[in-house]
Amino acid sequence: MNISKNQIVKALEEVIYFPKHDNIINLKMVQDIKIEGNKIRVSIVFPSPDEPAVNIVSESARKAIETSLEGKVEVEIETLSEKDAGRDALSGIKHIIAVASGKGGVGKSTIAANLAVALGKQGFKTGLLDADIYGPSQPTMFGLEGQRPDATEIEGKTKVLPFEKHGIKLMSIGFFVSPEQGLVWRGPMASKALEQLFSDVYWGELDYMVIDMPPGTGDIHLTIAQNYPITGALIVTTPQKVALADVSKAATTFRQEKIYIPVLGMVENMSYFTPAELPENRYYIFGKSYSENFAKKLNIPFLGQIPVVQGISESGDVGEPVAMNPDSIEGKAFGELADNIIKGISVLKN
Ligand SMILES: Nc1ncnc2c1ncn2[C@@H]1O[C@H](COP(=O)(O)OP(=O)(O)O)[C@@H](O)[C@H]1O
Ligand SMILES: [Mg+2]
Repeated sequence: MNISKNQIVKALEEVIYFPKHDNIINLKMVQDIKIEGNKIRVSIVFPSPDEPAVNIVSESARKAIETSLEGKVEVEIETLSEKDAGRDALSGIKHIIAVASGKGGVGKSTIAANLAVALGKQGFKTGLLDADIYGPSQPTMFGLEGQRPDATEIEGKTKVLPFEKHGIKLMSIGFFVSPEQGLVWRGPMASKALEQLFSDVYWGELDYMVIDMPPGTGDIHLTIAQNYPITGALIVTTPQKVALADVSKAATTFRQEKIYIPVLGMVENMSYFTPAELPENRYYIFGKSYSENFAKKLNIPFLGQIPVVQGISESGDVGEPVAMNPDSIEGKAFGELADNIIKGISVLKN
């Protein structure tokens, strides 16, 4: 008997993966179909190897094939977890921290870069993923502007290799698109680009991944939150009232039931000014604990304050994040932020 792959696909289109209310072909769960004479081997990928759907779906798949080919076949179903199938690109990453902000310009990218470098300095394997499609700035912050990443073949799939600099791994949407392109992207296109950024990069094993999220709260945030295992969100703000108003919006987005991501805490950037020649002096231009009180009201842990220092801005422009020097005032502030985040995550896990 001559059996075609098409016949098998047709049969499998009748098999529903009930947690997602769709058939296993549409859901791209069928990894492979092999036909040898009257022997048919199908491998199906499941999100988790021990979910109840595994047995039920496998049995339905077998029956569907046998019925459509009128029983003259021997069917073997192999089940794989996403991890075994190499689909779970982030499976080697222990903790993922999404750095978000209610609005742009508050220092989200600066915090993300320095937090990642500070974690790296403490000996953790750390990655930084710049997912801010509307204004990727990590290539500049790491002095890698205009460079293109290498690709390699891993288990038969083409994977993009992150850059390694200042002790961390780095990947940015900015390595693939020009800023003008990012600005005109609309929902589905942007989501697709992000999907590739997540799944086609070879991160390997990481203790922490820091994501520089796009500013605000929109579809992109929902896509990332729903599709990737984010450990928690860090919300960046500045002490002005206008910036704080956006914090509660961001926190509410992450706390929505359908995407729930724990809010690890809030960090206040540009909290105080310290002149280089008077490092002991702190001038709280916008008031000392306004944000801290605000965080309390929203029930968000307050994780730190970062001073306004000219060096922070300059170092960002020349590709040397200040956290490279952990003994400087600003380096210390980022070290403390990293400590608080590590603690915050360990509390979540218990
Ligand atoms: N603590 C700080 N001290 C001095 N300059 C800062 C500080 N934080 C951010 N900046 C500067 O402010 C600008 C905006 O910061 P950026 O991190 O790009 O914000 P966002 O990613 O939220 O848009 C940049 O030029 C950056 O160098
Ligand atoms: Mg930015």
